[in-house]
Amino acid sequence: MNAYLAGIGSFVPDKVLTNFDFEKMVDTSDEWIRTRTGMQERRMSAEDVPTSDLAVKAAQRALKNAHIDVKDIKAIIVATATGDMAFPSTACLVQHKLGAPRVISFDIGAGCTGFLYALSIVDSFIKNGYDNILIIGAEELTKITDYTDRSTCVLFGDAAGAALFRRTQENKGILSSFFTADGSYSELLLQPAGGTRMPASKETVEKRLHVLKMAGNEVFKVAVRAMYEAATKTLKKAHVTPDDIDLLVPHQANIRIIEATAKRLHLPMEKVQVNLDRYGNTSAASIPLALDEAMKQGKVREGSLVLMVAFGAGFTWGGVLLRL
Ligand code: ACO
Repeated sequence: MNAYLAGIGSFVPDKVLTNFDFEKMVDTSDEWIRTRTGMQERRMSAEDVPTSDLAVKAAQRALKNAHIDVKDIKAIIVATATGDMAFPSTACLVQHKLGAPRVISFDIGAGCTGFLYALSIVDSFIKNGYDNILIIGAEELTKITDYTDRSTCVLFGDAAGAALFRRTQENKGILSSFFTADGSYSELLLQPAGGTRMPASKETVEKRLHVLKMAGNEVFKVAVRAMYEAATKTLKKAHVTPDDIDLLVPHQANIRIIEATAKRLHLPMEKVQVNLDRYGNTSAASIPLALDEAMKQGKVREGSLVLMVAFGAGFTWGGVLLRL
């Protein structure tokens, strides 16, 4: 039994933050941000709108696209690093807000690789008899961004992307995957305070320890190697070459990481989906957001072969090969 993509949807908030907005906040320039990251705009949700609201909107669009009634959902998985609360899980909040039945609902935390990690669970659920699995990558990174730190604040945006997976005996859907993690890198990309290691206190707030911290340059070097490893190992498992794929949908962290990955795979950039110029890095939401866009643009359709690769906090990295 294979897990195939029956429907997809995404949602971004209306408010746009441009590079020029950052010129007014920190010592930076549109030119630096564009050339070093490829980004021009990102979206920001309102203060009183939690991540679950974005997730629900994306999920409703995915269900509509799949022609599936909410009552038929059999599992909900939310990939996020910026859930509404530490607990309950954002997936439980989504289940309730969507009006879904009482079904298994849980979050997974794998940073920017979260949506792909969720796909590994979808695959085993489908092989174990489940159907109609809703997975959502949803993030509000702007809520944990330090707008006094020029090296991180320009990078992140808010979004959600959702996908509905169904069972099929046809040779389509998830064809192969590769996942790994290396926790020895955990200190290079983290939100230090608010957990049990450093519970919230007046001091942690004053020291700005509840925001995302990243050693960008060190992360960059590992990311380039990891994205290539994820791509090649995923393709090898399916006995597929880069030439065979119709589209690469990479995590949208930095245009230089994406271009380096494409170059090493000898893939022309026309075969690579890029939207970080408009949305920045939306962590676990970035791949479903980019795939939804590619499908709407007609770049891929039923039968297309799509390779998705991601890298994120943990570090985690992985790839999934999908026949639409
Ligand atoms: N504007 C102007 N100058 C800046 C800015 C800015 N916004 N940010 C940093 N600089 C400066 C630095 O201070 C430094 O100045 P110095 O030489 O005087 O010290 C200089 O630019 C170079 O800094 P680097 O950090 O070496 O810049 P780099 O070219 O590496 O770009 C970036 C930084 C964009 C963060 C890049 O390293 C990157 O994309 N890293 C990987 C991000 C990633 O993949 N993250 C994983 C997924 S995210 C997740 O899981 C949530």
